[in-house]
Amino acid sequence: MVERTLAIIKPDAVSHHLVGAIIQRYEQAGLVPVAVKMVRLTKAQAEGFYYVHKQRPFFDSLCSFMSSGPIVVLALESENAIQRYRDLMGATDPAKAAAGTIRKAYGTHIEHNAVHGSDSAESAQFELAYFFSALESPQR
Ligand code: RTP
Ligand code: MG
Repeated sequence: MVERTLAIIKPDAVSHHLVGAIIQRYEQAGLVPVAVKMVRLTKAQAEGFYYVHKQRPFFDSLCSFMSSGPIVVLALESENAIQRYRDLMGATDPAKAAAGTIRKAYGTHIEHNAVHGSDSAESAQFELAYFFSALESPQR
């Protein structure tokens, strides 16, 4: 099934000038960008995005990090885009991520792990709508 997933190039990767390299990895994997923009979240906006993690011990630190600098958000489209992109990202902790994954290549810490990806159809729907209007991510 052709579907869309929400990708974020996190502040660590943006500050390390990895935007182009990471988008190239998406395109090489067949994950087609159908919407792209750079934004800087306020802490409250980061908390809204990660509300599912509100009770987790890392929530405050995560939201501070995600609002610490600009991020690049993309809608990526392909067959099975959600799982395909999770596989390309690798494990949350870059130290445990498999060879060939984006987090293995560019992550430096369990929190500073370069990229985000939706983890289910439900979260993709919420996350895409959090960042993109219908006008900003047109049907192809
Ligand atoms: P993401 O949502 O960013 O794609 O990452 P994920 O699904 O692999 O991991 P998740 O459990 O959803 O956690 C969201 C983000 O929180 C940070 N984190 N820190 N200190 C910690 O133990 C810890 N655990 C998670 C990471 O930045 C993770 O990507
Ligand atoms: Mg997650």
